[in-house]
Amino acid sequence: MNTIFSGIQPSGTLTLGNYLGAIQHFVKLQEDHNCYFCVVDEHAITVPQDRLKLRENIKSLAALYLASGIDPNKSTLFIQSEVAAHTQLGWMLQSLSYMGELERMTQFKDKSEGKEAVSSALFTYPSLMAADILLYKTDIVPVGEDQKQHLELTRDLAQRFNNKFNDIFTIPEVSIPKVGARIMSLQEPTKKMSKSDENEKAFISMLDTPKKIEKKIKSAVTDSEGVVKYDKENKPGVSNLLTIYASCTGESVEAIEEKYAGKGYGDFKQGVADAVIHVLQPIQERYNELIESELLDEILDQGAEKASFTANKMLAKAKKAMGLGRVKKKK
Ligand code: TYM
Repeated sequence: MNTIFSGIQPSGTLTLGNYLGAIQHFVKLQEDHNCYFCVVDEHAITVPQDRLKLRENIKSLAALYLASGIDPNKSTLFIQSEVAAHTQLGWMLQSLSYMGELERMTQFKDKSEGKEAVSSALFTYPSLMAADILLYKTDIVPVGEDQKQHLELTRDLAQRFNNKFNDIFTIPEVSIPKVGARIMSLQEPTKKMSKSDENEKAFISMLDTPKKIEKKIKSAVTDSEGVVKYDKENKPGVSNLLTIYASCTGESVEAIEEKYAGKGYGDFKQGVADAVIHVLQPIQERYNELIESELLDEILDQGAEKASFTANKMLAKAKKAMGLGRVKKKK
C-alpha cells in the first residue's frame, strides 16, 4: 500500500482553498493508502505568531481535519512539534540544502518581500518540509499547486542524500488535483486565496457562517460581460467561481456553464454560494462538537505516538548514514 503524507500550517482558520485543494482529496485517499496528516506548527512559526492564537489554531486545525472526514482509524493525524524527529532531520537536510536553491523558492520570495526582519527559519522552511515527507517513506504528497516547487526540492534533497550517503529515502511523487489546485482570491482573482490575506472579503474561511459566505461570494469581483464562461485569461473572477462550483459539487465546468447559459451573475453567484454552504455546513456542525471534546486530545496523542515510532526509525537510519552520534562499544 502506498504511503501518503501531507501537512497544513495552523496559521489562521483554513480557507475554502485549503479544503478544495487539499483536505477534500486527503479524505478520499485515506480509503486505500497508508496516510499521515500533520498540523505543521513548526512551519507556522517561520513568521511571527501570537502564541495564544497559535495554540488555538493548532487544535482548531486538528478538529477541522477530523470534521472534514479524516478518520483516525484509517489515517495518522498528529502535530509536527510533538514528533521531535522532524526538526532533527530538518537540520540534517539543511546541511545538504544550498543557499541558491532556497533563494529561488517563490514562497520565500513572496513571504519575505518588503519585510524588514525575515527569520532564517523562513528561508530554510523547505528543508523542514522535506524532512516531514522523507521520514515516512512517503510515495505520494497531495498538495495544491503552490507547493509544487517545494516538492521538487524535496525530491532533489532525497536524491542528493541517497547518492552521497546511503540509499534510504523514497523519492516522493507530487499529486495535484486537476480542478481546484489553485483557488483564487475573491477580490483579486489573479492572486491565490490565502488565509493570511488582510482583506477578509478575499477568502472564505471554513468556519464562516452561511450568511457571511453568501455575502462574500455576492461581492466577489467578476466582469461586466454577464456571461458565465470559463476563460482564465480574460475572465479570472468568473473562472474562479466556476472552479469553486465544480470542486464543491463534482459537476464539470461545461455542465455548469450550460446550466447558467442566458442567466446573469446574480443567479450564478447564488448557485456558487449554495454549493459552498452545502459542503461547509455539515463540516462546521461536526467541528463544533469536536472542538470541545476530549476525544481530540486522545486522537492527537495516539497520532504522535504512531508517527514517532515510524519517524524515529528513519531518523536513526539517516543519522547512521551521515555519521552522526557514536557506535557504542559492546559490553
Ligand atoms: P498551507 O498551509 O499553505 O496549505 C495547505 C494545503 O492547502 C493548499 N492550498 C490551496 N489549494 C488550492 N487553492 C488555494 N488557494 C490554496 N491555498 C493553499 C496547499 O497547496 C497545501 O496543500 N508548506 C505547506 C505545508 C507543509 C506540507 C509539508 C505540505 C509543511 N510540510 C509536507 C505537504 C507535505 C503549506 O504551507 O501549506
